[in-house]
Amino acid sequence: MAARPSTNLRYGLWAVAIGAVVAVTAVALGLFGGDRPAGVSTVNIGGPFALVGTDGQRVTEADFSGKARAMFFGFTHCPDVCPTTLAEAGSWLEALGPDADKLAIMFVTVDPERDTPEAMKTYLSSFDPRIVGLSGTPEEIAAVVKSHRVYARKVALEGGDYTMDHSAAVLLFDKDGRFVGTVDYQAPADQAVAKLKRLVGAG
Ligand code: NI
Repeated sequence: MAARPSTNLRYGLWAVAIGAVVAVTAVALGLFGGDRPAGVSTVNIGGPFALVGTDGQRVTEADFSGKARAMFFGFTHCPDVCPTTLAEAGSWLEALGPDADKLAIMFVTVDPERDTPEAMKTYLSSFDPRIVGLSGTPEEIAAVVKSHRVYARKVALEGGDYTMDHSAAVLLFDKDGRFVGTVDYQAPADQAVAKLKRLVGAG
């Protein structure tokens, strides 16, 4: 390095230093899907929601007070990600044993046009009955997708049909509704169960 770095070089070094601080802070806040370290304030993901259960009843976050939540967003016409995740979610509940009572696993549709409460009920009958299916009006679904920072987009198919692109991570909230991390798609079962045990205070 020259004895007197040019102004451009010095600005460049500052940019690298600031970038490193931002990256470390982002990791500490769990923005990249890690668990939230104790004492670090939460990222603003989640919050109240008003949806419809598979029997047509109104459902809000208050119905799960005192329980941790694992929320997954998808759709019943999904060819792979959703059925895989829902099957895995059933095995997580089995692995939790009695501690599964402290956790609510929810499958929220991002395709309210097709995923009526009845369609959700039929679809979820192939999976663990403890998984809570949630639908709603397009406006209600749009609101929960936004507040939970979920990616969901309609993609047209040939012949007038459509599919949905959607984020595949399961969002984890503690019993006070704070976002604490994710279980990523096809995470090894032992890792997923370890996270869920910690989430319900059993690990
Ligand atoms: Ni899916």
